[in-house]
Amino acid sequence: MGIQWTEALSVGVREIDEQHQEMFRRINQLLDACHKGKGHETVGEVLAFLDSYARRHFQLEERYMQQHNYPEYEQHRQQHNEFIANVAEVRRRYQQEGPGVHIVVITNRVLAGWLNSHIRKVDKGLGKYLQPLLEKSG
Ligand SMILES: [Fe+2]
Ligand SMILES: [Fe+2]
Repeated sequence: MGIQWTEALSVGVREIDEQHQEMFRRINQLLDACHKGKGHETVGEVLAFLDSYARRHFQLEERYMQQHNYPEYEQHRQQHNEFIANVAEVRRRYQQEGPGVHIVVITNRVLAGWLNSHIRKVDKGLGKYLQPLLEKSG
């Protein structure tokens, strides 16, 4: 159950990989809390954490992009904003309907699925661009 971080998802920048792993852990915690029908607090707390953690993570990547004049900065940043909007949508649904199967379904689709494909397609591209630059600067 849930989503698994594997080496295949490594973007080659340790700080970024570690934050991705934490996001995977939290998404799994959220799915788990819903499955077990845990109290409102747990699900609400994990969603709040995920929201602020995702913002922090995106800021880190965006800072890297700006510092190193990444040519695909705009498109990448737009995708981040999409995820933040997805989290807001899950939180809104959660507030209206409480924890349950529907939250599991949309969490899988708009959080877990999104993150997985964003890392594979978009963050990996950024990692490839950054790696030689970061090695040079030590
Ligand atoms: Fe990203
Ligand atoms: Fe990322």
